[in-house]
Amino acid sequence: MSKLFAFLAATIILGFLILRCSSGQDFNASLAVPTPIDNPQSLAKIALGRQLFFDKRLSIDGTIACASCHDPQKAFTDQLSKSRGIKGQLSERNAPSLLNAAFLKTAMFDAHLASLELQAIVPIQEPVEMGHNMKLLLQQLRQIPEYQAAAQRIFQRDFDAYVLTRSLAAFERSLLSMNAPFDRYIAGDQKAMNHDQIAGWKLFSEKLYCTQCHPAPYFTTHVAANNGLYASYEGKTDLGRFRIHHDSSDIGKFKIPSLRNIPLTFPYMHDGSIQSLDQVLAHYQKGGAKNPQQDPRITPFVLSPNEKKQLLAFFDALIDTSYLKRDRF
Ligand code: HEC
Ligand code: HEC
Repeated sequence: MSKLFAFLAATIILGFLILRCSSGQDFNASLAVPTPIDNPQSLAKIALGRQLFFDKRLSIDGTIACASCHDPQKAFTDQLSKSRGIKGQLSERNAPSLLNAAFLKTAMFDAHLASLELQAIVPIQEPVEMGHNMKLLLQQLRQIPEYQAAAQRIFQRDFDAYVLTRSLAAFERSLLSMNAPFDRYIAGDQKAMNHDQIAGWKLFSEKLYCTQCHPAPYFTTHVAANNGLYASYEGKTDLGRFRIHHDSSDIGKFKIPSLRNIPLTFPYMHDGSIQSLDQVLAHYQKGGAKNPQQDPRITPFVLSPNEKKQLLAFFDALIDTSYLKRDRF
């Protein structure tokens, strides 16, 4: 009798666990992921993109893969102020997370690249990142029977830039992290966030002005803005979006980053110059460093120690690492 009872209890618990896991999966599967008309998602394409993403042969000396700087275990960042490319070279900027890249309207801190397909060749050819030459790389990849066969099977063509960029982009579009405690709270589960997290969300969205640039659900408006990181950009080599059109009003403008998984994607800002979320809040509290092009929405405010604690608790409610298990990283 007691055996039967134990068996029944185990079945119920197991059933419950399976239901929970699959509801998480369904949640992500039911998200409408924007995909370009000429690159529909397919499991085979995502699998090829995944292999390429982890393949160090994409760098000239075989030492660096996309994943070296966008590590799944670190929310697809490297948790360094500035990334390390081939031969230990320092890249110019901080590596952003690729989670939810499917929803990006533009890629890069300059908010200038229109698609993930276009973005993919940049790090490959960037001398301090992967330092390769596309012509040479494609010749090499075509010699690898597994890649050539996959290109024929999925795209009905030889392995070329089309295959490389579309597979990488398809893989990136599969990286979803949109089922954080915050999402479950918004969907009606009052218990998904604790008291401090709810208070922090109220501060973030009602008392302060953060959602003007970091609104739910993506916590970015996808445009570039100047959040007053420095008092002056004189002598700085990285002027942000200015480098695209040489328009002086763009000096110090960088693409507004999403705040999803933000406690995991330290250090912060385009140059990784702010180490902690505590220091990020201090930056906004003083109203930025006040440069001439600073966005007028950034103004000083006062936070009590308890309010600061609540905001930091809210940031924790933006963490969703279920992709690690779901996608087996
Ligand atoms: C050496 C480190 C490094 C490597 C290797 C690397 N990246 Fe990045 N990645 C970065 C940095 C730094 C940025 C920010 C660059 C900028 O904004 O100018 C970035 C930006 C991106 C972005 C834009 C994200 C956004 O929010 O705008 C995407 C997409 C991306 N990388 C994908 C890839 C892919 C795909 C590969 C492999 C082909 C790759 N990266 C290889 C460091 C790296
Ligand atoms: C005018 C638009 C704007 C407003 C308002 C704004 N931010 Fe930002 N935020 C930005 C930009 C732009 C960056 C990136 C700057 C850079 O890379 O140098 C950023 C970066 C951040 C980062 C670091 C993200 C990362 O991955 O590096 C955090 C955290 C952050 N903001 C939180 C807040 C909070 C909290 C508020 C409200 C007090 C706020 N922001 C208000 C534009 C804004």
